[in-house]
Amino acid sequence: MANQHEHLLTAIDVGSAKTCALVAEITDNGLRYRGHGVAESRGSRKGVIVDLDKAVSSIQKAVEQAEDVAGAPIEHALLGMAGAHARGFNSHGGLSFGARAREIGREELRAAVDKARAIPLPDDREILHLLPQEFILDDQTGVNDPLGMMAARLEVRVHMVTVASSALQNVVTAVNRAGVHVDDTVFEPLACADAVLRADERELGVCLADLGAGSTSIIVFQEGAVAHTGVIPVGGDHFTSDLSVGLCTPVAEAEKIKRLYGNAIVTLIPEGNEVEVPSVGDRPSRLISQRMVGEILEPRARELFEMLRDNLRHAGMFELCVGGIVLTGGGCRLPGILEIAESVLHRPLRLAWPAPLAKMPSTLAEPEFATVLGMVFYGHRARIARGIQNERWSAKLKAMFVGKGA
Ligand SMILES: Nc1ncnc2c1ncn2[C@@H]1O[C@H](COP(=O)(O)OP(=O)(O)OP(=O)(O)O)[C@@H](O)[C@H]1O
Ligand SMILES: [Mg+2]
Repeated sequence: MANQHEHLLTAIDVGSAKTCALVAEITDNGLRYRGHGVAESRGSRKGVIVDLDKAVSSIQKAVEQAEDVAGAPIEHALLGMAGAHARGFNSHGGLSFGARAREIGREELRAAVDKARAIPLPDDREILHLLPQEFILDDQTGVNDPLGMMAARLEVRVHMVTVASSALQNVVTAVNRAGVHVDDTVFEPLACADAVLRADERELGVCLADLGAGSTSIIVFQEGAVAHTGVIPVGGDHFTSDLSVGLCTPVAEAEKIKRLYGNAIVTLIPEGNEVEVPSVGDRPSRLISQRMVGEILEPRARELFEMLRDNLRHAGMFELCVGGIVLTGGGCRLPGILEIAESVLHRPLRLAWPAPLAKMPSTLAEPEFATVLGMVFYGHRARIARGIQNERWSAKLKAMFVGKGA
């Protein structure tokens, strides 16, 4: 039975710092904002649930706020997956049809993709995405849609993203316990790309890095397809904890100092400025030079981008990112982050703000909401693609029944 809220699309991002639910409405003119809710994340770290009850209550809070604003219940959602347990790699598979070329139909495509995915995976891992990069028909490379074409040999190259089954199951369980059914899951950087990358960047070769709280997720596009994904186990919270230890101040105070006085490049901080630092215990607060904050943050920022560079080099992707490197996520709000990234990576860089939804409040137009916004764009695109596929398939079925063959 058709649901009266079928025109609504909800995305849930259970991040390390914040849990966010966003509701968009599908209209004839595209997507329109209906509501959102944000709660501090408790019980989840780096994409893994560490305390189920706390995670459920954060999700409930975000969902209830979003329901209030949207004026509609949230029963289903698209759920984002990320974190250090995600792995991406390339695979390929193919089949030969003998000496005579034959028409490529859905069965042939499915068989080729099955060959590409038939690699042994440890029991505790499952495939989140199987993203086709290109099809090869005999010697013809770079085919996007081979349906209906003739070939004696069909090959497919894919990028696979796998996640730890238990981590995936636990996030799904937390969302279910918050009263929401998970319709689908998406690797967050893949969705985030929909909010921040341009088509020409994806064609030319680009790396998107989402600097979150617990980790930095990366995705590389080449010729429009996903060529590489990865997760670097450093995020904004590592910067905060360095400050907390280095300045001997509680984490919450370190977070404030980072946001108010932080800079990823020491020399961008004026000499002579002083900052008050609360102490731990009942010791009095102290005055320190603001440059000291930069002295603690700069090596961490440098390390993060060196790890990013090494990850891309190791995957053979660094030289291919001619379209540059795009930074988003809450962590890229630190002043000086672009400059330090440029000095390590020597690539064109830009900070990305997400594409807005119609009627969206300006508070959402920030890099930390790029992922959840990308998720509703991705969810919308996936619905359209499913609709088209069903249409095509039913057209073929019809043709079969009137004896024309599929
Ligand atoms: N103004 C700011 N200056 C520096 N850092 C900031 C600023 N605002 C937010 N951050 C940092 O951004 C991080 C949160 O980013 P974001 O909201 O994208 O993370 P998340 O999605 O919850 O985490 P993850 O993606 O790792 O699961 C925190 O580490 C926070 O300290
Ligand atoms: Mg995030």
